Amino acid sequence: MSETRQILDVQGRVAVVTGAGQGVGRQIALDLAAHGAGAVVVNDIDAGRAEQVAEEIRRTGTKAVGAQCDVVDFDAVGAMFAAAKDSYGPVGVLVNNAGNQGGDAPPPSVPFWEQGPEQWAPSVGVNLHGVLNCSRHALAHMVESETGGRIVTVISDAGRVGEIGGLEAYSGAKAGAAGLTRALARLGGRYQVTANSVALGATRTPATEQFLADPERNKRILSQYMVRRLGEPADASGMVVFLASAAASWITGQTVPVNGGYSVTL
Ligand SMILES: NC(=O)c1ccc[n+]([C@@H]2O[C@H](COP(=O)([O-])OP(=O)(O)OC[C@H]3O[C@@H](n4cnc5c(N)ncnc54)[C@H](O)[C@@H]3O)[C@@H](O)[C@H]2O)c1
Repeated sequence: MSETRQILDVQGRVAVVTGAGQGVGRQIALDLAAHGAGAVVVNDIDAGRAEQVAEEIRRTGTKAVGAQCDVVDFDAVGAMFAAAKDSYGPVGVLVNNAGNQGGDAPPPSVPFWEQGPEQWAPSVGVNLHGVLNCSRHALAHMVESETGGRIVTVISDAGRVGEIGGLEAYSGAKAGAAGLTRALARLGGRYQVTANSVALGATRTPATEQFLADPERNKRILSQYMVRRLGEPADASGMVVFLASAAASWITGQTVPVNGGYSVTL
């Protein structure tokens, strides 16, 4: 009889998922738990949301805790990783998912040359500084524990193609996060740490609910996608779990588009 093996096996690693209180991050946290994470630290800036998702995971039999912190706050991120280590052991999977699609971004009517730092700060903060902060602490755990690890950063097609209409800073921050993740791949490889990014196309989450409610806009978006539907959190999560699993131990430094085939020629 041939032996079967679990392909998407997260190998009992302790996982931190940032911004996991809803949307894509919530699905990733649930799916990591379902695929063998030893424990899941459900981070969100919103304590209630984080705890709710942690409770959902605990009900399935996997250890989980809600961890409220702003990923932009270096010391708070350090405290979150220290608490995770005390409770469960060193972190072996980090998913940098917390992001801000530009909710606070300048409206499309304000051209880039009329924008200023106060409008860029929210996007650059969470999408780039947040990734720096969390990756720094995660890598310390992964290197010190000598058990390797996985870093997966959720970026956006905006970071690959460059979006305008108020998303200029967001595009730059996401491209920066992908560049940082590649550098971590180069650095982490010798410690059996892989680092990859997942570039999402338009995905239905609470963040995009309003934006994607406009049928005309949807038609325009879908006309550029080979698979003519919007993304769902599970589309993103499938790739993230794969990259966090044993199956992907020789894949690193990549940015994988999960976007129905948008910009396939780039
Ligand atoms: N939904 C899309 O169409 C889409 C497209 C491309 C990329 N993305 C990226 O996917 C990721 C998830 O997006 P989503 O649509 O699920 O968003 P969402 O807004 O629905 O969920 C994001 C979660 O992150 C939390 N968060 C925000 N700032 C935080 C901070 N500073 N610290 C900790 N938590 C914070 C929020 O409270 C929220 O619960 C983001 O990085 C986003 O940029 C999404």
